[in-house]
Amino acid sequence: MSNVIDVIQTRSSSRGYTPEPLTDEELDTLLHAGLQAPTAANKQEIHFTVLKGDNPILKELEDEKNRLRGLTAQAHNFYYEAPTVVILSADSTYRWSPLDAGIAVENMALAAEGIGLGSLIIGCIYDALRGEKKEYFSKALQFPDQYEYEIAIAFGHKAVSKEPHTYDLQAQVTYL
Ligand SMILES: Cc1cc2nc3c(=O)[nH]c(=O)nc-3n(C[C@H](O)[C@H](O)[C@H](O)COP(=O)(O)O)c2cc1C
Repeated sequence: MSNVIDVIQTRSSSRGYTPEPLTDEELDTLLHAGLQAPTAANKQEIHFTVLKGDNPILKELEDEKNRLRGLTAQAHNFYYEAPTVVILSADSTYRWSPLDAGIAVENMALAAEGIGLGSLIIGCIYDALRGEKKEYFSKALQFPDQYEYEIAIAFGHKAVSKEPHTYDLQAQVTYL
């Protein structure tokens, strides 16, 4: 078991994966990390749609994202050809859904780092999933009724390495 501080300090976004699939045990660990995340009032309103990287709906999402952005096909798709993508949706009527989904997705990202996998949190499909094709995609991804996309995350074995991001403690922190 990795030390949580080590994992926080070493995690970075992975934008390149090997084709090696996740094992069932790895996927289970990641999903439980999401499910074990705290939610406001313990409402547990987050839903997780698990997709293999070759699921055709991901290509449809990529195409819709590019169409909305006026882009042609990109060198990499939005999940960098990762073998697994998890899409988090949540109750659209609950005020804490976006925050709870963010906490859950970070739990999953840290769990991935902890078991030696890479991850990438994905927001760039927001307009595709919340726009004119919202109902179509929500149904295809089997979101529960009244649920909507909050965030997604890709997982796989890292094919590229990236240093953790730097930051400016002086600018971002106020001590009173
Ligand atoms: C809410 C959210 C949405 C993000 N969406 C994307 C995305 O769509 N595509 C992408 O390549 N990275 C995305 N990222 C990753 C950020 O770009 C990345 O976390 C940031 O640059 C810091 O780098 P690090 O994760 O390596 O520390 C997202 C991160 C967050 C938290």
